[in-house]
Amino acid sequence: MNTSVRDKLLASIRTIPDYPKPGVQFRDITTLLGDADAFATAVDGLVGPFADLGIDKIAGIEARGFILGGAVAHRLSAGFVPIRKKGKLPHETVRVAYSLEYGLDEMEMHRDGVKPGEKVIVIDDLIATGGTAEAAVKLLRQIGADIVAACFVIDLPDLGGRRKLEALGVSVRTLIA
Ligand code: PRP
Ligand code: ADE
Repeated sequence: MNTSVRDKLLASIRTIPDYPKPGVQFRDITTLLGDADAFATAVDGLVGPFADLGIDKIAGIEARGFILGGAVAHRLSAGFVPIRKKGKLPHETVRVAYSLEYGLDEMEMHRDGVKPGEKVIVIDDLIATGGTAEAAVKLLRQIGADIVAACFVIDLPDLGGRRKLEALGVSVRTLIA
């Protein structure tokens, strides 16, 4: 990622102190999404080296991973599969519990959302502790996906998420830290 791309992305993200809890510096990407140039730059960065790899599905993590993941899926001519907070999906699901920087939750995906052996990229806006992305990886592996990479616009390196995913054997791409 070159410096001007990084600078553009950094400048387009706003930080909200003490949201949603005291002590959290919330990285708000609504400002990035509202800036056509920054949004396109982020999508280009996430697509990165994956254009000719025959990616079958983008797995987007609720909620901000849906916005970025949908755009990346379109660019890669791949399908999109949503990974959602519990209770939102209508068909048979696989489910996993996870912890995040400011709480506990469960997430799920449709059991038939990805076929065994399909090449999948996980997309979200941000990796912090990695709990959310780890849960997505567990769901996808339960149903036999081939996880090519997990990609995020923002890495919060002090929280160790990237290392957590790499320890699971997942290749991680992030655009800014
Ligand atoms: C944020 C972010 C990631 C997750 C990262 O989502 O979009 O999904 O936290 O945190 P982690 O690496 O510590 O797991 P959030 O849980 O706030 O949900 P939302 O996108 O539905 O608001
Ligand atoms: N998810 C977990 N930690 C976050 C943060 N600091 N900003 C935005 N989303 C987050």
